[in-house]
Order: sequence, then C-alpha cells, then structure tokens
Amino acid sequence: MIENNNQIRDSFGSKFGVIAAAAGSAVGLGNIWRFPLVTTQNGGGAFLLLYIGFVILIGIPVMLSEFSIGRRAQLNAFGSFKKLAPGTPWFLVGSLGIITAFAILAFYSTVAGWTLEYFAQAITGKLSHVNDMQKNFADFSSQTYRPLMWQFIIMLVTSVVVFAGIKKGIEKFTKILMPLLAVLILFVAFRSVTLEGAMEGVKYLFVPDWSAVSFKTVLMALGQAAFSLSIGMGTLITYGSYIQKDNHLLRTSTQVAITDTSIAILASLMVIPAIFAFSPGSDVASLSPGPGLVFEVLPNVFKSMPGGSFFSVLFFFLLSVAALTSTISVLEVVVAYLKEELRLSRGMATLIAAVSISVLGVLATLSFGVMRDFTIFEMTVFDLLNYASANIMLTFGALLIVVFVGWRMGKSDFINEISNQGNLKSNLFKGVYFIIRYIAPVAIGIIAIATFFIQGIV
Ligand code: TRP
Repeated sequence: MIENNNQIRDSFGSKFGVIAAAAGSAVGLGNIWRFPLVTTQNGGGAFLLLYIGFVILIGIPVMLSEFSIGRRAQLNAFGSFKKLAPGTPWFLVGSLGIITAFAILAFYSTVAGWTLEYFAQAITGKLSHVNDMQKNFADFSSQTYRPLMWQFIIMLVTSVVVFAGIKKGIEKFTKILMPLLAVLILFVAFRSVTLEGAMEGVKYLFVPDWSAVSFKTVLMALGQAAFSLSIGMGTLITYGSYIQKDNHLLRTSTQVAITDTSIAILASLMVIPAIFAFSPGSDVASLSPGPGLVFEVLPNVFKSMPGGSFFSVLFFFLLSVAALTSTISVLEVVVAYLKEELRLSRGMATLIAAVSISVLGVLATLSFGVMRDFTIFEMTVFDLLNYASANIMLTFGALLIVVFVGWRMGKSDFINEISNQGNLKSNLFKGVYFIIRYIAPVAIGIIAIATFFIQGIV
C-alpha cells in the first residue's frame, strides 16, 4: 500500500473505511486476550478506571497526533519524521517503532497461533469434551512443534496479505466479520454474567479497590491503553497518510477509541465473571491468572451455553481474523521501513521481516515449553516481550510522538492539519493541543520515572 511518491497514493475510500482499518488494527488480542488478563493481574475495577482515563487523556491525543503526522507528511513513519523535521534525529522515533514491531509481533504471533489451535479443537469437537481446561492449555502450549506450527501459519498468512497488498479485499470482509465478533462477544458476555456466582466478578470489574493500585499498576494501565489502541509505534502514522484530506481526524480518533474500549470492556465481562463463577470462593489473585486465561475460561462458558460448540467454532475463527487484521498492521511498519529506507523490493522486505521476527517468535512460543526456565529479569522471553513492548517501548514511543507534535510540529501546523486547513471549527482543537503539549508528556513522564525509581521498571 505504500507506493512511490510519483504514483498516485492509495487512500481509504470512505470515512467508514478509515474507521474500519484503524479499528481493525486496534481491535485484536489486545482487547480479548490481554485486557482481561492485565485487569485481573492488577486488581480489577481501579485498573479499569485508570485505563479509561488514559484512553481519553493520552490515547486519543496520541492517536490524533499520529494521524496528523502521517496525513501531513503523506509518508510512512520514518519518512514522515524525516520530512517534517529534516536533518534532526527525530527519525529515530521511527527506528524505535521498528524494534517495537519486532517485539510485539514475536509474542503476538504466539497467542494468535493459540487461537488457531483452539479453532481447530473447537471444529473437531475436542474442546467440548475437555474436563480440565487448565490442563488442556498447559498440555498444548508446552509442546514444541504444534504451537510453532500455528505460529508459522500466522506469520505466513500475515506475510501473504502484506506482500500481496490485498488489504482492500480483507477490509471488505472484516467490515462484516468484526461487527459479527462484537455481537458474539455481547452474547457470550451475557451468558457469563448470568452464570451462578458471576456477580462477584462483575463487582470486581466495576467496583474499584484502590488499595490494589501501585505505580506499576498505573504504568500497566497506560501500557495497555497504548497497546490496545495501536499507538506509540507508527502504525497510525502510516494509516494517517492514507486518510483523505477532508476527514475529521479528531472525530475518527474518538470513534476508534470508543469502539476499541467498548470491545475491551465487553471482553472482560465475558471472561472475568466466568472466572468467579467457575472458581467460587477463591479470590482472583490466588488464582494467579496467566497468559492462558482466556483459553482456560472461555471454553467452559461455551460448554455452559446452548449451541456452545457452534459458538466456540465461530468465536475462535473470528478471533483469529481479528488477530490477523492487527498482525498485518504491525508487519506493515517493518516492511515499509525496509522497502523505502533500504530500497528493497516489497517481496524481499516482507521475507526478511517475517523470517527475522519469526526467529524471535520461536523463543516466545517455546517460553511455555522447553525454554520455560530461560529467564531475563526473572521473566521468560514471552513475558519480557509482552511486558516491555507495551509498558516501556510503546509508552516511550507515545511520549516522543506527543513531544514531537507539541514542541516540534507546533500549534499552527497541528491545528491547520486537524481543522482541514481551517475548514473545521471546534473549540476542542486548542484544548487537545494543550493536552498534547503539556499534559500528556508530563503525565507519561511522571508515570515512567516514578515506576522506574520507586519500583524498578520490570
Ligand atoms: N492493538 C492491537 C490489539 O489490541 C495490537 C496492535 C496492532 C498494535 N498494531 C499495533 C499494538 C501497533 C501497538 C502498536 O490487538
């Protein structure tokens, strides 16, 4: 999709197309797998409130910043910084994005592979006969070849889509499939909250317990917001360059953030009450939820639903598609870099990116099996990539992006871009700029520094 400047640039055909593509990138395993997991690891209700606060205060302003950088420069993440700040080291923000893309895709493809396994288990009927879901997950994820096979399939399909540039085709059916996923999640969430004992979980999610909050919780909420909204890495700079000049960027950012957050909350309503219903009497912390959480809890919910085996097939299929629309947007950042900066062909760029990310990916996948005792900072490779990408790399990326817009691009260029050269009027524009220039950098800076000095960063 990123072509030479002398060719007509690809662009999104409609307003809905913009939102569908950005929401396609945003909505994925981050919402359905990661959000319920970090929420239960960080005490529930208070974490949710912090999360929502960060989406509004930092998420939407950073998303708007990325869109405005990309649309103004009409280039990929690197090219954009080079063009808007020539002769400065700002292009390094693009380099950070590449490294972050490596880290994210390496472990994301592990989890995306798991969803394929569960799709396979659902379709063959195995899943509806499992009694011990925890054992089922542990037995599968600790193997060597089977999880790797699924991970390679994910990387292969992602590469084919990125290489062939068939995103337009994909977009067409994600426009149907993603709303279907949302409806299905709503359905499953309804089943979950009506299970016996589920109300404890609803309370856990919506009644904040501030005593569970530490600096690290705050950093995790910020990192999760960045991860889920796909910000801090340059994905939305690239997408911004395809957005038409008359698009209302602030409105688009807000709509994407609302969609993404609603799905994350629904997903946690689907998962968390069920944890309580299936393990009555125990508190969540003592259950010490891990990366298998969703795969251990949801199959039990499906088992308790009429037509559950059909729904489980549909659900894991749609979740795989949701993961794919996100993996594409991550790989694209690396491919665009290799193609434009190192002047490689699209095919070569895709090959190099996918193979090198897969090498790291193998280590992430094997973290649940033969490499489970190989740790760095007391974390497995998977845990380290998962933790560091969101909480350190994306957070730092987001900080640099708001500093760029607030202090380098400046007020008049920014307002000019988001007002479509003065055609749109809104009192909100100046307020958002103020947040981008002062509030967001200070907030991110304080959280990062406080976590680092008070608790140690990992
Ligand atoms: N937001 C996606 C999810 O929630 C993951 C993702 C896709 C992402 N592109 C990204 C995260 C860019 C950070 C940056 O599943």
